[in-house]
Amino acid sequence: MKRVALLGATGSIGTQALEVIHAHPGLELCAAASGSRPVEGLAPLTQTGGDLTELLERAEPDVVLNAIVGFAGLPATLWTLERGIDLALANKESLVAAGDLALAARERGGGRILPVDSEHSAAFQCLDGAEPGSVHSLVLTASGGPFRHRDLHELESVTPSEALAHPTWRMGPKITIDSATLMNKGLEVIEAHFLFGLPYDRIEVVVHPSSVVHALVRFRDGAALAHVGHPDMRVPISYALTYPERAATPVPPLDLASGLILEFSAPDEGAFPCLALARAAGEAGGTAPCVLNAANEVAVEAFLAGELPFTGIPEVVERTLSAVGTPPAAGLDELVERDAEARRVAGALTREVVH
Ligand SMILES: NC(=O)c1ccc[n+]([C@@H]2O[C@H](COP(=O)([O-])OP(=O)(O)OC[C@H]3O[C@@H](n4cnc5c(N)ncnc54)[C@H](OP(=O)(O)O)[C@@H]3O)[C@@H](O)[C@H]2O)c1
Repeated sequence: MKRVALLGATGSIGTQALEVIHAHPGLELCAAASGSRPVEGLAPLTQTGGDLTELLERAEPDVVLNAIVGFAGLPATLWTLERGIDLALANKESLVAAGDLALAARERGGGRILPVDSEHSAAFQCLDGAEPGSVHSLVLTASGGPFRHRDLHELESVTPSEALAHPTWRMGPKITIDSATLMNKGLEVIEAHFLFGLPYDRIEVVVHPSSVVHALVRFRDGAALAHVGHPDMRVPISYALTYPERAATPVPPLDLASGLILEFSAPDEGAFPCLALARAAGEAGGTAPCVLNAANEVAVEAFLAGELPFTGIPEVVERTLSAVGTPPAAGLDELVERDAEARRVAGALTREVVH
């Protein structure tokens, strides 16, 4: 029996994870946590808000599924990695903001990061058993979001409800807005860099509206392996929780004979500057990804509250990155300070962009 601690149990990933756990006799939910909505009775140990590492200490999990949204997921990521416990990671923001600290913690703890993000789960599976030198590059697919055909000018007036209508995935509000700005794909490029150790110039992004191909690994001999399936998060959640087993899920096989057409195109980086901003922050290293992430969290919240236009999101992120120093953080305290500083600056810039 594998003991699972589920953090972010009330969210989109969390509720789908509950379905996966309840359907699998080999998985036992030992703890569940949320940020503000109640979770009592969901698991033997539960907690809402506060320091979740105490809950994790008591729960003694074999695997922690971190499905918290945002930088708030960082302490749980580091706690899990330090102890060599398997980390099923949906909370990409913790790896983006603290990639170097997380990898050092994994090195000390000796555990594994099992990606839950569908593209990274796909890449992880395509890379299984591959000799690192044989890998040429990684391709992450992006649905393109609800505004795929719009130009920068048209994006100025889009509303939160339009941005929340994602064409292929049903997700929490923050990642849905990130998908609409393409910041989500930018965060995923940084996440892939830390997960798979590939340099940024070997991580490519293509727009693929139907989200059937989740990722593709190109090898040095010219072959490419793609991971293909319905866009359904229960598949990567199940894979991460039951790894290295591959358990059954209720997701049907793809019906190829019904005329499946796979379409790919280059992202429009002029209309969606967040992708290039994230790539540049990743390449700059240090605490640039942490600052990018913090500014984005602030800007997305302001957009959802109707306090910032959609096109203000990349503006706030870019100006925050210019205003805040991004040298490497010596440890967690310094990183947390940098995150807080970036949030203060991004908050002030948000008010400036509007007025
Ligand atoms: N949804 C997807 O399909 C998908 C796909 C790939 C990756 N991801 C990643 O998975 C993560 C979760 O996404 P989501 O779509 O599931 O988000 P969501 O629906 O908004 O759920 C977020 C969860 O985090 C909890 N939470 C927020 N702040 C917290 C805090 N300070 N302490 C403890 N729990 C806290 C929330 O609790 P309350 O409900 O109490 O606020 C909720 O359970 C994100 O990092 C996202 O990028 C999601």
